[in-house]
Amino acid sequence: MANFALTHFPHADELAQAAAAAWLEEIAATNLARQPHRVALSGGRITLKFFSAVVELAKAREVPLHRVHFFWADERCVPPDDPESNFRTAHERLFAPLGISSQQIHRIRGEESADFAAAAAEAEICRIAPLNGDGQPVLDLVLLGLGEDGHVASLFPDEPESIAASPAAYRAITNSPKPPPQRITLGYAAIAAARQVWVLASGTGKQAALRESVEPASRTPLARVIQSRSQTRIFSDIPAV
Ligand code: 6PG
Repeated sequence: MANFALTHFPHADELAQAAAAAWLEEIAATNLARQPHRVALSGGRITLKFFSAVVELAKAREVPLHRVHFFWADERCVPPDDPESNFRTAHERLFAPLGISSQQIHRIRGEESADFAAAAAEAEICRIAPLNGDGQPVLDLVLLGLGEDGHVASLFPDEPESIAASPAAYRAITNSPKPPPQRITLGYAAIAAARQVWVLASGTGKQAALRESVEPASRTPLARVIQSRSQTRIFSDIPAV
C-alpha cells in the first residue's frame, strides 16, 4: 500500500477549496470530541488561496475554531509585520477575519536571532502539544507547500545527513535558496510525528519535483517526509503526476 494519497485538482482554486473543507471537517470532529486541534501552517502562494477558502467556509458553516492552536511549519527570520512573515500572512488572511484569539497563536519569533527563535518555538510547541516516546511534539496536522526543488517547510535538498537527521523539533536555516535566507523550520522528526501531514502541491514548475518525490528511493525533502510516515496526503494541481 502506498504511503501517500494523491488527489488531483484541475486548478489551485479547487485544490484550496477541497483542502479547506477537509481541514474544517477535521476541526469539527475535534470540536465534537471537545479536544484541541494543533496545526502547523506553511507559507507560499497556495496558502493565500487556502486561507481565503477556510475563512469563507468557516463562516458559512459556522465552525467554532476556539479549540485550534496554530503553529508554523516554517517562518522567515523577519519581524512579524514584515511582508515576508508567514505570521503576518496568517494574521491578515486567517486570524483577523476569523477573530482568532492571540492565546491560540504560537508565533515563531522571527525578529529574534534564528537560534533563539528556534529554541523558543521548540519550548512552546513542546509545552502545548503532547510528546511522543521520542520527545517529539505530536501535532494533529502539518500543512506543507511544495517547492520546485522538492522542498517542504524550509527543509531544502542536499542538507548534510548530520543536520537533516537532527531530532530538534525546530531548527534554524541560514542558507535557504528561497529568499529570505534565514528561516526557522520544523525538523523531519516533528513532521514524521504528526498525526496527519497534508501537502498542498500547487503551481508550475513542480511536476518533476512531485513525480520524483513519490518514488520510493527518492531523496527530495518531500520524499523524506513521505518515507518517514505511514501516510501523507497530497492535494495537487500539478498536471500528469
Ligand atoms: C515558505 C513556505 C514554503 C512554501 C513552498 C511553496 O515559507 O516559503 O513554507 O515551504 O510552502 O516554497 O510555495 P508556493 O506555494 O508559493 O510555491
